[in-house]
Amino acid sequence: MSTAQALSALLFLLVSSPGTGKKQEGGPHAAWLARLARDGRRVELADTDGLDCIRCHLTVAREWSLSAHATAWQDEHFTKELRRTRKKERCTVCHAPVPLALEEGQPADPFAPPRATREAERHLGVDCRTCHLAADGETLRGPWGRSTRAHPTQRSSQFTEEDSSLCLRCHGTTIGPVIGIARDFVSSDQAGLDLSCIGCHMPRLRGSVATLEGEPSPIRPRRSHRLETPRDPRFLARAFGLSARVEEGHALLAIENLAGHRVPGTTRRELTLRVELIDRFGDVVAVRERVFDHRHYLPVEQTVTVEFEEGGAALRVRGLHQTEGMRRPQEFLDLQLPLGEDGPP
Ligand code: HEC
Ligand code: HEC
Ligand code: HEC
Ligand code: HEC
Ligand code: HEC
Repeated sequence: MSTAQALSALLFLLVSSPGTGKKQEGGPHAAWLARLARDGRRVELADTDGLDCIRCHLTVAREWSLSAHATAWQDEHFTKELRRTRKKERCTVCHAPVPLALEEGQPADPFAPPRATREAERHLGVDCRTCHLAADGETLRGPWGRSTRAHPTQRSSQFTEEDSSLCLRCHGTTIGPVIGIARDFVSSDQAGLDLSCIGCHMPRLRGSVATLEGEPSPIRPRRSHRLETPRDPRFLARAFGLSARVEEGHALLAIENLAGHRVPGTTRRELTLRVELIDRFGDVVAVRERVFDHRHYLPVEQTVTVEFEEGGAALRVRGLHQTEGMRRPQEFLDLQLPLGEDGPP
């Protein structure tokens, strides 16, 4: 890559870095970045030195740099806790791992964490090679295995939404503040319903994924490496399926888990649903709260109900998100559901 190209790649990454007070205009992810809940964590990896895939895969690298995978090593909460931990290697294996396929033989346990911490470029966290490099150390595994002059490629189902095994390696262990929620996914019927980690967490897009010698690869359907995260209130709201009804004079709110695992998924997150019963004059007549945290979580594929002593015209449901590093709870949901008894207020 020429110096000019390298520079423009760098600028592209820098211009939209949040927290610098700069305007977010231009970048396709600006609105999403602006929406993310502030919990004191880095939301973008600015320092991509050493990331050679970026030369040709600028768009993908840009998306990845906005994901928690890119910031896994520099994450403020992680570095703080690492300092307090004696056996650091226990923690670093997942936050800056060696490429997963390089290990001799496939581990028998699908939840086996990566075996070793990378020596080089740890600041890149869960980097491109971690997921894509094949056992021969040069082939890049992907969803298609299209041939290119750039490097050998190989198709692997691990990069399709039929398969969640790539994600299980690091998301199935309960350690530190992390809950091995991938085990919930495996123990449930989520895969049978054609749901997958990739399907829910890597949003669908169309576009070119590479540029080789100035020539962009064809525009095709693909998925973004910018992970959907609970720090995005719109995505967090999708965890809950809500329905209201009156049964024998009691207003009921059914709260269904629509995520692929328990909610919430870390020990620090607390999600509160505040439910107001509204009568036909529009007045609030009763209030209930349901708090979901790591002890009282909403299990995968389960529904819980909030019940009132009386009936009414509607339920207003507000969702509040609180986690370490957040100054005050952030609202992620505000809905009014008619109860169908006296008609909507
Ligand atoms: C098996 C892989 C693995 C190991 C080992 C591991 N982590 Fe993590 N860590 C993760 C994953 C996956 C997440 C993301 C969890 C999430 O966002 O729900 C994470 C996230 C974190 C976070 C951010 C949580 C937050 O929401 O702010 C901290 C802090 C952290 N880990 C600390 C540690 C510490 C300390 C250790 C060692 C005791 C450790 N990790 C070992 C996989 C691992
Ligand atoms: C956590 C694992 C993970 C990491 C890290 C990761 N990828 Fe991917 N990558 C995937 C998955 C899963 C897919 C399949 C998604 C899809 O359908 O496009 C994919 C798809 C791709 C594709 C093919 C896209 C297409 O549709 O043709 C390219 C190119 C790619 N990744 C490059 C990169 C680069 C470059 C990086 C680092 C900047 C990177 N990936 C980091 C998991 C990862
Ligand atoms: C010299 C340019 C160049 C470099 C450097 C490069 N790639 Fe590629 N890569 C390409 C091109 C071109 C394609 C084909 C894209 C297409 O036709 O859709 C491709 C395809 C891929 C694919 C998709 C494979 C599939 O399933 O079809 C993956 C994954 C990938 N690259 C990952 C990487 C990673 C990871 C790195 C860094 C270790 C990297 N590439 C470095 C140019 C490059
Ligand atoms: C090599 C280990 C590893 C693999 C493989 C991996 N992850 Fe992660 N993932 C992590 C770590 C570590 C974090 C937390 C980083 C942090 O916050 O410090 C994380 C964070 C996340 C988050 C939380 C994002 C946020 O902003 O809160 C999601 C969602 C996620 N990963 C999804 C996936 C999916 C989907 C796959 C499979 C395509 C996958 N991961 C594969 C290690 C991994
Ligand atoms: C049906 C869609 C769906 C599927 C399938 C799914 N997730 Fe999620 N995931 C969500 C939603 C919605 C949230 C936000 C709610 C929350 O944070 O608990 C979430 C949150 C997360 C988080 C952040 C948890 C936290 O509280 O910090 C991680 C990490 C994650 N998912 C990883 C995975 C992995 C790995 C898989 C596959 C084993 C997977 N997800 C499958 C929808 C899904």
